[in-house]
Amino acid sequence: MLDGLVKHLYVATMVSAARGPGSTKGWWLTLLEGPGYFFLPGCFLEPPLSAPRAVAVKQAPAVAALLIHWLVQQWAPPPSEQLATNFPGSPCDPTFLLSYAPCNVICSIIFWNCFEYSDENFLTLARHIDENATIVSTPCIELYNAFPSLLHYLPGSQNTLFKNMTEQRKFILEKIKEHQESLDLNNPQDFIDYFMIKMEKEKHNKQSEFTMDNLITTLWNMLTAGIETTSITLRYGLLLLLKYPKVTAKVQEEINRVVGRNQSPCMQDRSRMPYTDAVIQEIQRYIDLIHNNLPHGAVQDIKFREYLIPKGTTILTSLTSVLHDGKEFPNPEQFDPGHFLDKSGNFKKSDYFMAFSAGKRVCAGEGLARMELFLLLVSILQHFTLKPLADSKNIDTTPLLKGVGSIPHFYEVCFIPI
Ligand code: HEM
Repeated sequence: MLDGLVKHLYVATMVSAARGPGSTKGWWLTLLEGPGYFFLPGCFLEPPLSAPRAVAVKQAPAVAALLIHWLVQQWAPPPSEQLATNFPGSPCDPTFLLSYAPCNVICSIIFWNCFEYSDENFLTLARHIDENATIVSTPCIELYNAFPSLLHYLPGSQNTLFKNMTEQRKFILEKIKEHQESLDLNNPQDFIDYFMIKMEKEKHNKQSEFTMDNLITTLWNMLTAGIETTSITLRYGLLLLLKYPKVTAKVQEEINRVVGRNQSPCMQDRSRMPYTDAVIQEIQRYIDLIHNNLPHGAVQDIKFREYLIPKGTTILTSLTSVLHDGKEFPNPEQFDPGHFLDKSGNFKKSDYFMAFSAGKRVCAGEGLARMELFLLLVSILQHFTLKPLADSKNIDTTPLLKGVGSIPHFYEVCFIPI
């Protein structure tokens, strides 16, 4: 069972490390050739990996999707249990609670290892990832991106960022060392094992992409891209549900009707839950998590309208321009699940929904993230009523920070068991 899952993710992630050329679509200029995906110049830049994404699509067997589903379901209940045990109705900051399940899903895949909620390793990992996601969204880092060599020597939050990244690297190296000591070539257990076997097979190939550096970067990519994106979306989503209690009540009514109280939600439920589906998509549209996408680079000179974009130019594509398009989404600054519902209350798809980007470099974890968002939100609302500490009307849902990511204001919430 694990075999299929790991192989699928293995292919998907390796492919994700390549920045191959992509298609053009509307405002979309081009998706670029370049090193593995990254946030800052000067750190974690790896040589491009060449496997086309099509390989991932071809090799991703349906069974892998089922396995990922199973894995996410495994981790959907713990936040609920943790909530009931650790915060029975009292106010709590949901940050780490909401990274717990995404963290364990990713760690199961890459290390075949999960954490207890109280495990110091989990809390440290979650804290570093959360702190870095916040730091890369501050103006200081925008300045750093513009003048890396200058700011490298000055005090500032970029130094905390690098300190945390060094800690994360140490953590990853420890895991790799443990795997090197226990590796059984005939019985690979997880992503790292598969990667190391491939490294061994290709050790005489100088062009091989299966190198130690690429293993470290790929693991780091999965940990950072795979945990914080989902957990910030969940955290921001709960804040919006606190602000709009009528929306929350409608979601809970739908959960009651379709899933009931006693069984765990599964992805098959989603097609019968158009309102919940629309709410989740609206959360993602509204928060516009990665508004300037990840950087891409022109692989060739491009003529776009009256502009010539020279080969090698770094391009930031604005996802906001589609997610907050006023024609497609009337009152785009307003949180309104109606943006994704037709007149009869059926779920309405929109080509403008590009929270995961689009084209050949679209988010490699989109399917996983969609599953996590649905199963975790439904699981929480199935078991708890959300109670705000302030009057809903006064809840501020504008982002506290908007840099690489969109970060919500700090808040506390009471989870009242139903
Ligand atoms: C709400 C959750 C998420 C959002 C909004 C999101 C969004 C994005 C965006 C906008 C990109 C950039 C695509 C581009 O360059 O055009 C990206 C890339 C990526 N994401 Fe996600 N993501 C999410 C969750 C995940 C998860 C759970 C994983 C799991 C591993 C993941 C893995 C990746 C990887 C590996 C890339 C790089 C893909 C590439 O360069 O080809 N993401 N994501």
